[in-house]
Amino acid sequence: MWRKKSAPDQAPGTLHQRETPDKASIDLTKRKWISRVGLGAILVGIGGQAYALIRALVPNVLYEDPQRFKVGTLDQFGEGAKFIEDKRVFIFRQKNTLHCISATCTHLGCTVKMERLNQAKRVTVRGREIDEQVEFACPCHGSKYYGDGTNYSGPAPRPLAHYKLELAPEDGQLIVDTSQTVSQDFRLTV
Ligand code: FES
Repeated sequence: MWRKKSAPDQAPGTLHQRETPDKASIDLTKRKWISRVGLGAILVGIGGQAYALIRALVPNVLYEDPQRFKVGTLDQFGEGAKFIEDKRVFIFRQKNTLHCISATCTHLGCTVKMERLNQAKRVTVRGREIDEQVEFACPCHGSKYYGDGTNYSGPAPRPLAHYKLELAPEDGQLIVDTSQTVSQDFRLTV
C-alpha cells in the first residue's frame, strides 16, 4: 500500500530557519545597497560640479585675431610705407618688392611709431652701410629702431619682427602671415 513519505522529524522551528533568510542579514544587505547607491550619487554629483567648473573656465569662442590675414590688393600699396593700424604692421613697397615689419615693440609690446627722416641718414647696420629714410621709435620707454627694424637704443632686446608676405591666388590680395617670421632680407617680388 502506497504511503505518503513523511518529513523527517525535526526540532520545532528548524525548517523555518533553513528556508527564509535571516532578517538581520536582509537588513544588512539593504543597508549596503542603499549606501552604495548614495555614494554613487555623491560621486556623480561631484563629477558634474567639477566638469561644470572646468567648462566655465574654457571660453566657447576664442576672440584671437587670425595670424594670417589679407591687407589689400597691390594697387593699394604705393612706393614707401603704409601702416595697417588694426594689425600693427608696416608694409613697405620699393618698386616691385614688398616686405612687412611688425609695429610691436620687442620690449613690452607697445606700438612703435614710424618717423620719416627729413634727409636720408647713413647708418651701419649688420655690417652694411645703408641710407635710411625712416626709423621707428617706441613712445613707452624710448626704444629706437633703424628702418630695417634693428634696435639701437633703449630697452628693446631685439629687432622688430619681419613677417612673411604672399599673394592670395584667388584674388591677388597681399597676405601677411604673422605666424612666420622671416629674415630682415626677405622680399616678396611681384
Ligand atoms: S614697450 Fe617699447 S620701449 Fe618699452
